[in-house]
Amino acid sequence: MTSAEPSGRAVRQYGGRRVRRSDGAWVALTVAFIAACMPGPRVPAPANPLANVPRAWPLFDGAEEVSAANGMVVSSHPLASQVGTDIMRRGGNAVDAAVAVGFALTVVHARAGNIGGGGFMVIRSSRGDVVTIDYREVAPAAATRDMYLDPQGRVTDRSVLGHLAAGVPGSVAGMAEAHARYGALPFSEVVRPAIQLAREGFIVDRLRSNSITQAAALLARFPASASQYLPGGAAPSPGSRFVQPDLAHTLQSIADSGPRVFYEGYIADSIVAEMQRGNGIITKADLASYRPIWRDPIVVHYRGHVVYSMPPASSGGVTMAEILNVLEGFAPLPAFGTPRHVHLLAEAMRRAFVDRNRLLGDPAFVDMPLRRLLSKRYAGELRRQIQPAQATPTPSFNGQFNEGHSTTHYSIVDAQGNAVSVTTTLNSDYGSKVTVAGAGFLLNNEMDDFTAAPGQPNQYGLVQGEANAIEPSKRMLSAMTPTIVLNPAGELLMVLGSPGGPRIITSVMQVISNVLDHGMRLRDAVAAPRVHHQSLPDEIVYEPGGLLPGTLAGLERMGHTLRERDEYSGEITAIYRGRSGWIGVADPRGGGGAVGY
Ligand code: DON
Repeated sequence: MTSAEPSGRAVRQYGGRRVRRSDGAWVALTVAFIAACMPGPRVPAPANPLANVPRAWPLFDGAEEVSAANGMVVSSHPLASQVGTDIMRRGGNAVDAAVAVGFALTVVHARAGNIGGGGFMVIRSSRGDVVTIDYREVAPAAATRDMYLDPQGRVTDRSVLGHLAAGVPGSVAGMAEAHARYGALPFSEVVRPAIQLAREGFIVDRLRSNSITQAAALLARFPASASQYLPGGAAPSPGSRFVQPDLAHTLQSIADSGPRVFYEGYIADSIVAEMQRGNGIITKADLASYRPIWRDPIVVHYRGHVVYSMPPASSGGVTMAEILNVLEGFAPLPAFGTPRHVHLLAEAMRRAFVDRNRLLGDPAFVDMPLRRLLSKRYAGELRRQIQPAQATPTPSFNGQFNEGHSTTHYSIVDAQGNAVSVTTTLNSDYGSKVTVAGAGFLLNNEMDDFTAAPGQPNQYGLVQGEANAIEPSKRMLSAMTPTIVLNPAGELLMVLGSPGGPRIITSVMQVISNVLDHGMRLRDAVAAPRVHHQSLPDEIVYEPGGLLPGTLAGLERMGHTLRERDEYSGEITAIYRGRSGWIGVADPRGGGGAVGY
């Protein structure tokens, strides 16, 4: 990979029901359980890791593996994946491709792909060094702790809908920064495919058309969003060509002038003018002072493998590390999909999310006991609290929560073996629903990821604490988990990530475990049913039809509350080292695609 000097623009920081038993029986059970839980060598793959998946589970049929000898791009849209592969064929490396894919997703996958949001990128060069770049949005300088509360202290919808919901966007600065440090092709060349897709249009598929239709009522409240995404009053129909001239012009300006036009030039003026139309608070000074941050990755050793993921301001790496570290002590893990397996997953997830929601936040604002949280010793403490056959309740809280599809992940490997893992978001579908008039792009509603009021759930049901309270210029805590996994020989093994709010963390973690613990091939590991526990609400959430009746009954006997979702969870886009090249898999839960060469 071309390794130019850092551009100098970024800052570096490191930084139910209970089962009763007699006491004697408990002691015997606990001893046997602890013995079974001692860490051990990597376990041999079971004969049929899918034996406990319900027969009617529909997703295995839709999961395709794409193989390629040189490079691979897997993203939420086949056109964006094609853009990335084309860039690599023209001599670009994985970072060039990542930047090209990021801009292209803004055009073809507008619900999540963005230049008005933020994200996180994990880069591993073929030499083996791993860095991450945090281009998360920040709170505007005029933001206040209680800005989303009504006089009774209740959280209003202003944190999710409209101008006030937007954080200062980071995506353009972050992608440009990654490119300045590692890119091999000129910046304008990697932005060009996105300009072309916006200017000449692309054929809209059913999934994207339906998604705009679902958001139409809210998009229609904002004139620039209505004219951009509802041409003629409705979403572009499947099979029609969707052209976005304003966005093409914006992207052309960024390609010609570089990222500062977005933060200090006429695009910044357009953002501020849009804010003034809708009582938003982002100023020119907020935009001019935005900086992405290079950070060291979170490193987790799991059964001889090395897992690299995103540090705070994302909670993804730390929370996943805690879950994996707890699970590592259970060797082998119980068979996939059995009551004991789901119980252990849920109890590990619960404990990690308790820490996440209470302790994590922007490292520039909060001291976090990361060394302790990431240690195997602490994982042992957590593991010993887990009862072998009984749920540990978290304080009660009832509520439904959303997932959304407004985040997107893409994974890239180039012919030299450089790997890039990127997750980026607008937060909710189509973000704040506000399009910057004349500029053709949506603004995020990332401010809802802050703790708007301690103890009150956000749109994902996350009940968070003071560490993530709103403060001027602070990054809101994220769950995004872009991840890279090495095999015991130190070779690149997997690149993966997902959208899904808090389920991002548990989705990524389960796919890793499905491969490493259960011996699944990538296709099955991605398609297999997933579960989720985030401490509050105190429930195991499972995908529709994802657990066998016997598993549900067993979990209920352990005292777990279970909730079946009416939607699938997450959308993994992943790459795996095959015997003779790379294997790419786009989750059948979404409309993505893998393109290799
Ligand atoms: O950063 C976060 O954790 C959230 N803003 C992610 C939102 C998300 O994944 C929703 N859609 N899939």
